[in-house]
Amino acid sequence: MDTVSINHRGQWSTRMAFILAAVGSAIGLGNIWKFPYIVGMYGGGAFILVYLVFILIIGMPVMMTEIMLGRRGRQNPVGTMQTLAMQAGQSAAWRYVGWFGMVAGFLILSYYSVVAGEVMAYVFRAGSGAFDNQTADGIRAILTDFVSEPEKLLAWHTIFMVLTTVVVARGVRLGLERTVRWLMPALFILLVILVGYAMSLKGFGQAVNFLFEPDFDKLFYLQDAHGKFVLDEAGQRVFTWTPVMVAMGHSFFTLSLGMGAIMVYGSYLGREASISRVTLAIVAADTLVAILAGLAIFPLVFTADLAPAQGPDLIFLTLPLAFGTMPGGSLFGMLFFLLLLFAAWSSAISLMEPAVAWLSENRSKRFDRAAAASWIGVIIWLLGIISVFATSGTTLRDVFESVAGWFGIEDARFTGKFFSLNLFNIIDFATANIMLPLGGLAMIIFAAWVMRRESIQAELAAERTFVLTLWRILIRYVTPLAIVFVFLYRLVPHPSSA
Ligand code: TRP
Repeated sequence: MDTVSINHRGQWSTRMAFILAAVGSAIGLGNIWKFPYIVGMYGGGAFILVYLVFILIIGMPVMMTEIMLGRRGRQNPVGTMQTLAMQAGQSAAWRYVGWFGMVAGFLILSYYSVVAGEVMAYVFRAGSGAFDNQTADGIRAILTDFVSEPEKLLAWHTIFMVLTTVVVARGVRLGLERTVRWLMPALFILLVILVGYAMSLKGFGQAVNFLFEPDFDKLFYLQDAHGKFVLDEAGQRVFTWTPVMVAMGHSFFTLSLGMGAIMVYGSYLGREASISRVTLAIVAADTLVAILAGLAIFPLVFTADLAPAQGPDLIFLTLPLAFGTMPGGSLFGMLFFLLLLFAAWSSAISLMEPAVAWLSENRSKRFDRAAAASWIGVIIWLLGIISVFATSGTTLRDVFESVAGWFGIEDARFTGKFFSLNLFNIIDFATANIMLPLGGLAMIIFAAWVMRRESIQAELAAERTFVLTLWRILIRYVTPLAIVFVFLYRLVPHPSSA
């Protein structure tokens, strides 16, 4: 049990409770929905390899840093950054790192909730036997029908935001801990069963090759949905850096880093816990679940002869196929989507927590926790409406054309790639691949060069010397350079190659 008690703020009852909550935050749609679809889009094994390298050299050190900062500051991320900066005699403007993170959290949760809503709808679809003996085309028709009705998506998004807000309003102990205690083991077991089923399929071998045989051409050269290389006018393959950016962004996203979620969880962690050990436990669990999800989903893709690059629809197209053919599939499918929903829920809670902690700990004391949670819940719900429409197919072109229409301009033409972008994709890309890495970069620069040495030493007293040294070298040199390199290399013009 923790011995340090900190005024009125909540604290985890045990170190295990912290680990569970952080794992609950880390494991979510990122592992089971997003990871498989980006692996499918960006070429499989090589992408996974790069992602794993980023987990090691970026994810782990950033996570240690965030927990350390949070536990030292003992406040919401805005207050923590400001207090620690002032203790070091530096500008209070460091608090904007906290602000930036809160904005990222709002944006992420706004679309995360829409996807979680789809998952919720699929609990019922699976349970009602809608997938039984369906063909791949039948399953696609079910999805198309569902997403073409924005009011349904909106209803599910609303329910999910209410659920999330209720738990956050109840606070750390009551709300967060209980939800995750039994959930993670159950999800894990179901995932293992699903992998077992996938192993019996004829596409399993192909999936294993796809996931574990790195082919760097597939990472660096643009492909179409079927994995064929795209050629330019000169017949050359087209170089792309996007997959590397996505791999880096996902190493932040999947571990809930760069926006203050893990920082605020760290602020509820007792002093005696070793930060490197809890980091290792969280990262190991998160990575294992992502790989298992890949092993469950890609055999279905190859067995049904689907293209791996289906994008965000991937799990909604493949998992129902499995549930439709396996014995007891409707019950099992219902359970699986239900657990995925819970996993998304425990992640969503952590996306909201920094802002709610900030608003309720604010000097003005105008909001108690419940009021703070409600206001923030409403704002995120409103933002989510953008993703509702984007999911049902509204693009920027549609938005611009209707705006032009309001001004009486009927024949405006918005051509070009930019306008066919979907706002859902833009929000996802900008938050995960740009905002989170920038937030994480600011945090490690702060810990490496700004914060007082004695503060860090006091916080990391339980660490072994070599771990400390390694962490220090990483956050001073390796991690920031890696992040900056990934950003800058995108701006370098690249020749195509045959
Ligand atoms: N890590 C979660 C997932 O993989 C999503 C998430 C929760 C998150 N909290 C976060 C992402 C904070 C970025 C920042 O589904």
